[in-house]
Amino acid sequence: MNLDQEIKKRRTFAIISHPDAGKTTLTEKLLLFGGAIQTAGAVKSNKIKKTAASDFMEIERQRGISVATSVMAFEYNKILINLLDTPGHKDFAEDTYRTLTAVDSVILIIDCVKGVEEQTERLMEVCRMRDTPVIVFINKMDLEGRDAFDLLDELEEKLKIKVRPLSWPINIGGGFKGIYKLYDQSVNLFEGNNTEIETDVVTITDINDSILDQNIGEKDANKLREDVELIEGIYDEFSITDYRNGELAPVFFGSAVNNFGVNELLDKFIEIAPTPAGRPTDTRDVEPTEDQFTGFVFKIHANVDPRHRDRIAFLRVCSGTFERNKFFNHVRLSKKFKFSNPVNFVGQRKSIINHAFPGDVIGLYDTGNFKIGDTLTEGENIMFKGIPSFSPETFKELVNRDPMKSKQLEKGIVQLTDEGVAQLFVQDLSNRKVIGTVGELQFEVIKHRLLHEYGAACEFQPIKFHKACWITSDNEKQLEEFIKYKSIVMYLDKDKNFVFMADSAWTLKIMQEKYADVVFHFTSEFKMEKAFS
Ligand code: G4P
Repeated sequence: MNLDQEIKKRRTFAIISHPDAGKTTLTEKLLLFGGAIQTAGAVKSNKIKKTAASDFMEIERQRGISVATSVMAFEYNKILINLLDTPGHKDFAEDTYRTLTAVDSVILIIDCVKGVEEQTERLMEVCRMRDTPVIVFINKMDLEGRDAFDLLDELEEKLKIKVRPLSWPINIGGGFKGIYKLYDQSVNLFEGNNTEIETDVVTITDINDSILDQNIGEKDANKLREDVELIEGIYDEFSITDYRNGELAPVFFGSAVNNFGVNELLDKFIEIAPTPAGRPTDTRDVEPTEDQFTGFVFKIHANVDPRHRDRIAFLRVCSGTFERNKFFNHVRLSKKFKFSNPVNFVGQRKSIINHAFPGDVIGLYDTGNFKIGDTLTEGENIMFKGIPSFSPETFKELVNRDPMKSKQLEKGIVQLTDEGVAQLFVQDLSNRKVIGTVGELQFEVIKHRLLHEYGAACEFQPIKFHKACWITSDNEKQLEEFIKYKSIVMYLDKDKNFVFMADSAWTLKIMQEKYADVVFHFTSEFKMEKAFS
């Protein structure tokens, strides 16, 4: 197969949702359809769920929260699907944002009872920044949810995207009878049978056909006819171009736990979802079809196996062919590396691969050479853009509780922050360490992991910082003056960039006025500032 064919064969995507909307359930069903797991009857059982392929960190199992981002590859109808799992919990939002830089499209799950929730809106904002194509799956149609038209209105209003239903529910909750596929005029009847993959499909060529009445009853058949007429009247024809440009989200309905509507979703997904796309770098756009290999690291996972201190860097291949044992250029370090054991992931199973192609996500064993955002090439000095650190929302000072273990603490905190669990800021003069996170939960995770993986006991003390601001200026003198004036709250990030810790919005405003030539950035990737503001 040539590179072009390999690219056309691949779809790389993530499922995103507010916690509890059904991401784990849908992931498992997709894996089931893809043959990546073989437990049709047992998927609903707790045992399978608790060892879900997507859960691969001990802490995650303990807490029941999806902390880690993992990758699952499977084949369906000759298409190679790379599904990147994202943590649902909002405290791990940054992890999710980074993962979204490595996908070409997303499936967004909405709970039909709850509608659009807070986390859904935030995730959608990130998709909009990059015009990521979105397919919406409205889940839990077996529950007494909201009216389908109302849900569509809410999607358009809160997610600020045009929608177009491609399937339509026949009733909801107790009366849910199935879905009508608007794109091929067939009806899937809902049996409430959650163990079978196949569902009962009734094909009708004309919605006015009495077969419909025979199958779902006259009343529901007439209601469906009215709904379909309304849909055709309100919504424009589905446009694949608009979808791929991130301007229009096709909508499907179903019930993941009952395996219902999942098949259609997957079939349509492989038909319309974009193949691996190019990515912008600091100097030019890289196209997937270029011969030369390029890729970037979007996730680092330390201590996958606590017995061996292994770190895995997750790399998205952007162009060309990745080859095992070939030397590649680590652009930030200007150093050549080769990888003898690159792996791909099928759930928890890792297998060594010899080649990888655009859209693939591979794991590279790492002894500390990688940071998030690092680029590998065949020699060209380019860095992929779009993986910034955002200003954290919560800050705490890291205090060592065991002076005998300060080395372990130092090593542990550097490694954990390399993974992107949180951000580390070190005070320039005092070596005081401040950890910034998106939520409280990360502090607990860090404390737990430092103790269990590095044997280091720590505590976190509250510190009143409002925002971390990366600072730059063309006026060197003024920048120096500012750094000197605010030296107590001047910290260095991991790349030794100066970061000003503003204790309040008011202080920040005053400083912005007083030092007019200093630019205050709220993400570490200054060039992307505009896209993320
Ligand atoms: P998440 O990963 O997005 O957090 O959601 P998850 O799949 O864990 O689903 C959350 C709950 O919603 C689970 O119930 C799951 O069984 C249920 N669920 C998923 N899809 C459907 C659906 O189509 N209909 C209905 N009625 N429920 C659905 P749970 O009680 O938390 O777990 P469990 O005891 O059922 O495993």
